[in-house]
Amino acid sequence: MKIAVRYQSRGGNNKMVAEAVASAVGVEAKSITEKLSSEVDVLFLGGGVYAMQIDDELRRFLDQLDPAKIGAIVPFACVGMVKTPIRQIKKAARAKGIQVLGPLPVIRLGFSHSAKPSQAKLSKLQQSARDLVSAEQRS
Ligand SMILES: Cc1cc2nc3c(=O)[nH]c(=O)nc-3n(C[C@H](O)[C@H](O)[C@H](O)COP(=O)(O)O)c2cc1C
Repeated sequence: MKIAVRYQSRGGNNKMVAEAVASAVGVEAKSITEKLSSEVDVLFLGGGVYAMQIDDELRRFLDQLDPAKIGAIVPFACVGMVKTPIRQIKKAARAKGIQVLGPLPVIRLGFSHSAKPSQAKLSKLQQSARDLVSAEQRS
């Protein structure tokens, strides 16, 4: 099964989450500035929210999703409070006919600018990612 992990991150939180997910499923996390080079069965895709909006770069990445190259998308997000990235990723995937799995549990940091995802939350996310991939492999 081919798996890829792509993230959008301004401050490093979603990069940290993506790296945790990627290490759990045995691949490398890459920024959305790196295009998918080949077909993938499962794409883990996540990012943050900034003044109630997802980043323009993530929006562009979503616009360019190629349903012929992606079996399923698993959204993830590390945010202050709202689930906007999850909603936007789901919406874009479904609009293109790409299956959505998950999402992974959203990591909420509240309104502290210095908060980082805790190891406990990252571990939970890693377990969810592994479970999801195992379920896909069985199906
Ligand atoms: C300028 C700015 C605006 C933000 N606006 C929101 C927001 O509207 N809603 C929210 O839930 N989180 C908001 N956040 C919190 C970020 O989504 C959160 O810190 C996230 O982890 C950032 O991800 P990153 O470090 O990968 O860029 C904001 C953060 C910043 C720096």
